[in-house]
Amino acid sequence: MAGSRGFGIDVGGSGIKGGTVDLDTGTLVGKRRRIVTPQPSTPEAVAAVAGQIVHHFGWHGRLGVTIPCVVKNGTAYSAANVDPSWIGTDAVAVMAKEIGEPTLVLNDADAAGIAEMHYGAGRDASGVVVLLTFGTGIGSAVFSDGELVPNTEFGHLELDGADAEDFAAASVKDEQNLSWADWTPRVSRYLQALEQVIWPDLIIVGGGVSKQADRWLPMLDNRTTVVAAQLRNDAGIVGAALAAHA
Ligand code: BGC
Repeated sequence: MAGSRGFGIDVGGSGIKGGTVDLDTGTLVGKRRRIVTPQPSTPEAVAAVAGQIVHHFGWHGRLGVTIPCVVKNGTAYSAANVDPSWIGTDAVAVMAKEIGEPTLVLNDADAAGIAEMHYGAGRDASGVVVLLTFGTGIGSAVFSDGELVPNTEFGHLELDGADAEDFAAASVKDEQNLSWADWTPRVSRYLQALEQVIWPDLIIVGGGVSKQADRWLPMLDNRTTVVAAQLRNDAGIVGAALAAHA
């Protein structure tokens, strides 16, 4: 028998991905659909793509959409890797106009964390868990005994006077052509700075680089146990669907 279903969309700096989610297993039902993020990535342009994805699947009912922004009560309050016009935008209203279904909007890293805590690497974890996504920027999600503390922005810790994500995000590795051996000490340095202000019991690392965790996790030099995310690139979609369903 088919399990209960949800629908999630994950808005990133380079792609907008969505799909139907089996909420019993936290896996995608069939293929996801990915469309390149429009430039400029204004709320209206992004919402139009989100609408296309929902209509492609013919989804009806509640769904979740992640954005790489601080989101409180449906309004975006930051926009580090998307068009600045997101700031102050009622994201729920903009999405509702294009999608026409009840939509929850939440931060992308928070959604990935929700998925990992429920189905993945954080399933059995208690205490304080920090999930970090390494992609275009660095996203963070903090859980205390499984409960999300929303909208943490640890990607923007200051490191040597600069924004940490400009020093240690996965996009920096690509742009500067850094090897794993060049990039990993940057991540260690970042984790050490994080560990000065929070004492997690576990750190979960997600984003594209978590697929190759064996290339760099063993080289990390920091205090807290670090494990790779298990849902990989679908965590945002799955977390968005689950959060909307809850
Ligand atoms: C944003 C966060 C987001 C992260 C990952 C950061 O630049 O400030 O809100 O979670 O990128 O996309």
